[in-house]
Amino acid sequence: MPDPDRFGAADRLDGLIGGFRVSQLVGAAANLGICDLVAREPLTAREIAAASGCAQEPLRRLLLALVAIGILSIDSQDRFTNTEMGELLCDGHPLAMKSVAISRLSEPNWLAWAELARAVRSDAVAYELANSSGFWSDLARDPGLARTFNSFMGSRTVRYAESLSECFDLGSVAEYVDVGGGQGTLLARVLQANPEAVGVLFDQPSGLQGATAYLEAQRVLERVRIESGDFFTQVPRTDGCLFLRRVLHDWPDEDASTILVRCREAMSDGARLFVTELLLPEQVTGTPDDAAKCVMDMHMFVLFGAKERTESEYRTLFDGAGLTLERVLPTSPESTLIARPA
Ligand SMILES: C[S@@+](CC[C@H](N)C(=O)[O-])C[C@H]1O[C@@H](n2cnc3c(N)ncnc32)[C@H](O)[C@@H]1O
Repeated sequence: MPDPDRFGAADRLDGLIGGFRVSQLVGAAANLGICDLVAREPLTAREIAAASGCAQEPLRRLLLALVAIGILSIDSQDRFTNTEMGELLCDGHPLAMKSVAISRLSEPNWLAWAELARAVRSDAVAYELANSSGFWSDLARDPGLARTFNSFMGSRTVRYAESLSECFDLGSVAEYVDVGGGQGTLLARVLQANPEAVGVLFDQPSGLQGATAYLEAQRVLERVRIESGDFFTQVPRTDGCLFLRRVLHDWPDEDASTILVRCREAMSDGARLFVTELLLPEQVTGTPDDAAKCVMDMHMFVLFGAKERTESEYRTLFDGAGLTLERVLPTSPESTLIARPA
């Protein structure tokens, strides 16, 4: 009897190899605004083609592929509507997954990943090999790109902020400074949970694109001082709490150390530094959680020549910057390492 699993490994491998096509199906749905169109009412392929300015036949096949991968559903009158995942790809959804799709699958990122093997061979930054420019300088040149990126980063923050408020008494701190805080999603959530506190949102100009409007919409603008600057030069002084969320993983060790030293210089003895990052396992296994972290580690390598780190690697960085790791909060999706001046 033929072994039904004979080709199992080949099929699994083929699924991994072909994953890029599924990514692009989702990217096309986001870029064409298909989920926004069908959010208002179920539409036929012809109606969606007319509204999106697409050729009808290829669009119909794209819609069917989106049904097959669970983004859309189709009814008995051939009208398409969103599934739960499709709803997440609509403009204005609080989790901003449309920005995630557009940002992650933008051409410069896509081309950067295509340079992975060359970058591993030469220890070069794949993004720079592919685009002849750097990630941050591209955002600085293009305010639209910067806004999409900031919204994308913010989308990843909502769940974290909820988890932080479960693990830590946010009311115990009077001032929060978010270093590299982007549009201010974390700061807004923290200030909403703690009506007495004030905040400083610190970032480079491109990171602050969209911040004022966002903080105003969140009704915390009057309690936030927005400060533009360079965290390699100086960060705002505080007696309270400095956030550094998903910043250090953008930088190789030497740069990450400099950022930590600048943070240490800004802290009074009673201040605390909250570093929020995915923690790589000390021993990598084949769990989905490890896979997600290791893929993100490679993403940092591709974009910046940077990396995710283990808890002990962060401890070493802290020690070198005059900081001591005090405790690790089990927040999600990222962990929070709390450091105090040594
Ligand atoms: C990966 S994003 C994280 C944003 C935010 N902390 C969050 O968790 O959503 C990194 C942030 O660092 C900021 N950044 C990069 N270089 C910077 C610099 N030299 N000075 C200040 N901010 C910088 C970027 O603009 C961006 O907002």
